[in-house]
Amino acid sequence: MERRVSITKLKAMKKRGERFAMLTAYDYPSARLVEEAGVPIILVGDTLGMVVLGYDTTIPVTMDEMLHHVKAVVRGTRKAHVVADMPFMSYQAGPQDALRNAGRMLKEGGAQSVKLEGGRRVADTVSLLVSSGIPVLGHIGLTPQSVNQLGGYKLQGKTPAAAVKLINDAVALEQAGAYAIVLETIPAQLGEVITQKVSVPTIGIGAGPHCDGQVQVFHDLLGLFDEFVPKHAKRYAQLGEVIKDAVGQYVAEVQDGAFPTEKESFFVDESALAELTQAR
Ligand code: KIV
Repeated sequence: MERRVSITKLKAMKKRGERFAMLTAYDYPSARLVEEAGVPIILVGDTLGMVVLGYDTTIPVTMDEMLHHVKAVVRGTRKAHVVADMPFMSYQAGPQDALRNAGRMLKEGGAQSVKLEGGRRVADTVSLLVSSGIPVLGHIGLTPQSVNQLGGYKLQGKTPAAAVKLINDAVALEQAGAYAIVLETIPAQLGEVITQKVSVPTIGIGAGPHCDGQVQVFHDLLGLFDEFVPKHAKRYAQLGEVIKDAVGQYVAEVQDGAFPTEKESFFVDESALAELTQAR
């Protein structure tokens, strides 16, 4: 049995100065493609609420919805490390709640680790999970589950005081045992300072080029979601257009009789055909 990428390997990559790409995936076919393309760590993000389920924010996403997608991604991969995102209110109410829900992500979902949002505020929870054998990926900066508190999807850590708070949050997560930390939508200079300050890998999304890894949302990268395109996203393909063209061709060919042809049809042999004709 092939072993999946471990947190030890990810930490060693930082030590060797090797950068790595992380990408979200939400289902079996996309997870297979992402792994085959060489992504070592896949996030089943609660962004699935927006890009897959059509919610306005990540807030309505439930544990059951997450588990459903985590299981599909795990089935579609053999080598990649799969991180399950903890949805809103699956860990905020207290460490025991967090432990139970994070345990489900590993035990039922098959993930190798969990991600949760917050810095010093969640440090005790992170310690409890880690000491219970559940590896934790931290997430600070723009934390989308707090969008109502933050007043929108805005750049974080802009003032010196806010930047110091984020540095302290990163250190608190490292001390609590997080194996890596996602830095979302913060100035590139702050991304660099935090990356130098902590010994665990930083994984940036809108946090500049100095982080140890980068993470992006599958649908942003591939042009599959155009309701909102964040500034930090680069489109490497326009699959939305490719899909619309292909489906449009299918519709036209059905309408004008060009599909299906003999190639896509099934036939019985001559003797069966004769019997069929007689019976008719
Ligand atoms: O849910 C998600 O996809 C995330 C990434 C944007 C880091 O948290």
